[in-house]
Order: sequence, then C-alpha cells, then structure tokens
Amino acid sequence: MASVLLTRRIPSSVLRLLEAEHAVDLHAGDGVLAREELLRRVADKDALICLLTDRIDRELFEAAPALKVVANIAVGYDNIDVAAARERGVVVTNTPDVLTQAVAEFTWALILGVARRVAEADRLVRAGGWKGWGLDFMLGTELRGKQLGIIGAGRIGRAVAAKAPAFGMRAVFAKHDMSMDELLVSSDVISIHTPGTKETRHLINRKTLIRMKRSVLLVNTARGSIVDEEALAWALDERLIAGAALDVYEREPTVHPALLKHENVLLAPHIASATRETRTAMAELAVKNVLAVLAGDPPLTPVS
Ligand code: DGY
Repeated sequence: MASVLLTRRIPSSVLRLLEAEHAVDLHAGDGVLAREELLRRVADKDALICLLTDRIDRELFEAAPALKVVANIAVGYDNIDVAAARERGVVVTNTPDVLTQAVAEFTWALILGVARRVAEADRLVRAGGWKGWGLDFMLGTELRGKQLGIIGAGRIGRAVAAKAPAFGMRAVFAKHDMSMDELLVSSDVISIHTPGTKETRHLINRKTLIRMKRSVLLVNTARGSIVDEEALAWALDERLIAGAALDVYEREPTVHPALLKHENVLLAPHIASATRETRTAMAELAVKNVLAVLAGDPPLTPVS
C-alpha cells in the first residue's frame, strides 16, 4: 500500500477507488493547501493528486524524495515544473479529453453572452433599470456570417470550431488556415485555446490588440497569462475592441480592477470545465493515472 496526498476533496465515488488500494491523506478543508503544509504533507508520499492552484515546483520535488507521480486534475499543467519532475523520474499526468466538450460549450456560452450582452442585461433588470421594450435598446451583435478566429488548434479549439456552423460562423485557425496576424485583423470573434507557456505569455498585448477589428470580441478560456490584462483594459478604455469574455486571469482569483468597470466585459470565475459530469471524470482520470503508476503500469495520460 502506497501513500497519496490529495490536495482537495473529490467526489466520494472516485475517492473510494483510491482508498481501496492506498492510504490517502486528504486535505478536506476549503481552499488551497498552504504552501508550508503542502511541503510538509507531501514529504513522505508516493503520489500527489493536485489542482492547478497548487504550485508543484523544484522545491516540492526536493521535499518529496519518494514521489513517483503527480496527477494534475486539469488539462493545463502550467502549475507544474515538468522539467524538474522529469529530472527526478516523477511522472506527471493531466486530464485531457474528458473536459473538452464542457469547455467548448462554456466558450460558446461566453461568445453568446458577450455578443448579446446577457450578463449586462441581467444586471440591468435586477437593478430595476429596465424601463420597457425599445427598438434600439441593448443592441448586441449577431454571430451569423461572422468569422471566429481560434488561437490553438488542440482538442478544445477544434471542439469550439465544430460548433461554429450551428451559429452560422466560419471558424479559422491561426497558423493552420492563416497567419496569426491575418487572423487578428480579419476575425469578428477571437477565442484563445492554447496552453499557458513561456511562449504564449502576453500573446495578446497592446501590439496584437491594435491589430484587431474595433468590433472584435475577445474570449479567453485557456490561461490568464496569455492576455496582458493591463493592455486589455487599455484597449477597452480606448474602444479599440468591442468587448471581451474571460474565464481565466493573470492573478486568480484577483481580477484586474480596470476590467471590472467595463460593462462590455463578461467575467466568469474559471468555471469552463465546471460541470458535475466533467469534474467527476477529471478526478477519476487523475486517480486512475495514480493507480496505474503505483501498480507499475504506464499512466493513461502522461504529459511527458
Ligand atoms: C484545466 O483543466 O486546465 C482548466 O483550466 C480547468 O478545468
């Protein structure tokens, strides 16, 4: 029997799978396990199941000499120093595929939400600001006949593109169908689906925002680091773009204060994969990865 640290509660049906075979040290409290406590509790563990809110770096690997596997309950793994893991022979796994549809659906919720001003309209009604029907009241923008520019042609980007015809949109991918610059200048909606890496940090910045249409809607359900929030706030202030919908932020859970004052920015709290079905499937895949590695089998979804 090996010992596994689990940094957050997971559905009990999934937890039972793990407990049937190994000793589980579960952080059952709310929120992120404090850094010192994480380092202390991982020190004697064979496996770690963590979330994107846990920083898994060289210091952690040094503190946990017996660690064999780190299973991130997320498809993104920018919270993990994969090179440091590799040096120590620690397997890192993520949770691809199982969240693709949930994230794609939520991306469309954001696209429709920002195009048709859904959150803004809800705020107005609740505040008692609705004075009656008007021909030019709360006009949004239609999606039909428009171009959806997708940055990132992985599973999620492709799943988002697959739903575009249902709304009469033409989806194009940066680098595949056209250059990034062509996509920026010609798209009516731009949706980001690329991993958060050193290379993609601030891919959306003042220079790239200036290249976009003034009518563009920018959507990010990937990683906050990809959009320079300071630059985005500036572009919105200057009316260089028409709106944005964000599920992810540079310093979660903090949202850049300048974004909060814009009615044309739809803000969600990093919930694109948050359906009961998907979160359960993500936890289950992470557990299965750990069980496989601890049994001496290859992991189901290794990142390296
Ligand atoms: C991920 O999996 O990387 C998402 O950001 C959370 O589901």
